Amino acid sequence: MSVKYYDEQKIFKLDSKDTSYVIKIFEGGYPLHLYYGSFIPDVNLTSFEKRHVYASFSAWPEGYEPYTFTPDTYPMEIGCNGGPDMRIASVQIRNADGNAVVDFRYDSHKIYKGKPALPGLPSLHANCDDECETLELCLKDSVTGAICTLIYTVFEKHSAMTRSMVIENASSKSFEIERAMSLCLDMNSMDYDLITLYGRHMQERDLERRPLAHGTQGIGSRRGSSSAAQNPFMALISRGGGEDNGEAYGFNLVYSSNYKGEIEVDYNESARVIMGINYDDFGWTLAPGERFYTPEAVLVYSDEGLGKMSRTFHRLYNDNLIRGEWKNKKRPLLVNNWEGTGMDFDGDKLFVIAKWAKETGIEMFVMDDGWFGKRDDDTSSLGDWQVNEEKLKGGIGSLVSRVKALGLKFGIWYEPEMISPDSNLYRAHPDWAIHVPGRKGSIGRHQYIIDMTRKDVRDYLFGEMSKVLGNNDIDYLKWDFNRNMTEAGSALLPAEKQKEFYHRYILGTYELMDRITSTYPHLLMENCSGGGGRYDPGMMYYSPQIWCSDNTDALSRVDIQFGSSLCYPASVQGAHVSASRRASYETKRNVAMWGSFGYELDPEKISEEARNEIKAQIADYHRHYDLIHYGDLYRIISPWDDPYRCAWEFVDENKSKALLTVLIKFRKESRNFFIRLKGLNADKNYRLEETGEIYSGALLMNAGLSLFDMPNADGYSKTFYFEEV
Ligand code: GLA
Repeated sequence: MSVKYYDEQKIFKLDSKDTSYVIKIFEGGYPLHLYYGSFIPDVNLTSFEKRHVYASFSAWPEGYEPYTFTPDTYPMEIGCNGGPDMRIASVQIRNADGNAVVDFRYDSHKIYKGKPALPGLPSLHANCDDECETLELCLKDSVTGAICTLIYTVFEKHSAMTRSMVIENASSKSFEIERAMSLCLDMNSMDYDLITLYGRHMQERDLERRPLAHGTQGIGSRRGSSSAAQNPFMALISRGGGEDNGEAYGFNLVYSSNYKGEIEVDYNESARVIMGINYDDFGWTLAPGERFYTPEAVLVYSDEGLGKMSRTFHRLYNDNLIRGEWKNKKRPLLVNNWEGTGMDFDGDKLFVIAKWAKETGIEMFVMDDGWFGKRDDDTSSLGDWQVNEEKLKGGIGSLVSRVKALGLKFGIWYEPEMISPDSNLYRAHPDWAIHVPGRKGSIGRHQYIIDMTRKDVRDYLFGEMSKVLGNNDIDYLKWDFNRNMTEAGSALLPAEKQKEFYHRYILGTYELMDRITSTYPHLLMENCSGGGGRYDPGMMYYSPQIWCSDNTDALSRVDIQFGSSLCYPASVQGAHVSASRRASYETKRNVAMWGSFGYELDPEKISEEARNEIKAQIADYHRHYDLIHYGDLYRIISPWDDPYRCAWEFVDENKSKALLTVLIKFRKESRNFFIRLKGLNADKNYRLEETGEIYSGALLMNAGLSLFDMPNADGYSKTFYFEEV
């Protein structure tokens, strides 16, 4: 049993394979957070409760003995605004009287097997009820009549948890939710470093590490998407902790719009972590009887540093986030025409690429941007999702049939959430673009964003997309999103609900994605947002792979892949070889093989030698597919530790196969170079395929593989494949 309740002590204990999480209902119904970390037995759990309670100026609730208890210094499961708890609030409700005081106390609880879905929101799932157990902690505020239910699900085998919150209005008057954070976790100390993944277009998810400091620090987005600027991921790692040592707590929000992740270190040197919908420019009116569901946060704890934390995230997401037909099905090796042709193509040109793809052993052809309306550059036509027959003579059907006759799968690009000012759709429905009255809309990449809060807009998009997806044998859809959101307002929402816009927008987007994926269950969806601008678990729920970055230069792309691997598995990472960048095809392939692999080029623009090389290099991808997609990743040398060299390794579950990749980004003069492998079985022997040499697991992990004779050249890379003998 992963969730236990000890009635006498009023203690909830949530255990996974390696972790424990302890909640105590304190006198008066305060939900205290007692512990989260390595597994502990159920002995004397209340001892944690004892702590220093006095803090100068702290107020205690009426009815308590002076100086015996204050929510200001105790670790809480929820940070209520307006009462004695002075730390950053996780919930704030503006009630009908106009004040924003709230005080949630324990009312009841439920423990059950399995995991509930969150209406309208992406979330992790249980494959069978025995896989996880859920605690619903129901808290009430006696004055406003608000009911707040904290939902915790424990994934026993993965040492992971999710947490979300539901707020219900059980009163007779409406109130406004001003803040409803999915996660609120009070840590007993500030002795941690904060790790975040910052970035920009072409350089997503770079790692940043800083010691926690007094005050508030954190990440967030106000761009209408989770964004490339800060991924909705934070980790706390104990000072001095690293890849394989120290305690690491990972937090990831299953959400694709404006979010915030913050940590406040208070004067007691405890740290409160909150994460959820961004409360800036947010409000949600809840009428009597209504409920509001927050997205969920994923929590992973590791007692062996970042490496184990990442591997837990990877297994958890492969097993319990990715869904549908493509979950465990081998993803087709694809070629996409974007980097090869841009929008300058016609059906014959695309067919030439597809023919080459077939001869080369590629399995799917993807037609990118430029096939619809009058789209010859990025200044027009988004929204006019009708095929451009001047480019594709005979329509999409004709191209699809030709490509299919070759024996290839067919994929297509859309950017459904956008509308070009120069489009028939905008001319017919200017109010379908998001905007606010009296102001001109700002333009990004020559486009506006369409109002996904509106059902008529979503119905139009579904209808137009269905004409293409429903009438043609299409296997794959690339769903793009290419600008920040500004002047965020809807023509249909009343003034008092405009604060709900951002959240309603993403709920609308999720609804359309759900409609498309459930109507066309065979479709493989690949998400994209100028590369990896919506590389978040919310999107991964709908699309089992995401285009990781528009940066396909292997030597800098590898940094993005290292950063992404902090919490996202290789299986979701769209990674392609392109023609136009530095490095050999061998290196481009070795880097792109770390993901859902493909090519992005025009075969007529590369040499015959390059074409032959590509043909020869594909076999390895097929051979190592399972090892890479479902094996354990070990970051051996990370770009954030060494600017010259990097190395990564995949090991299968039985520890009988390992694939090591070493990349020299820049030549380094010191030539002694030992790579110590990880994750092998010390007692087994392994054969290095290339040389036939036998090594013990213990030798490879402790002494290491000597690479002194590896070519020491910028951009050189090599893979080493080991199999148990
Ligand atoms: C974005 C994507 C690219 C490509 C273009 C098309 O930038 O990231 O891969 O699809 O849009 O306009």
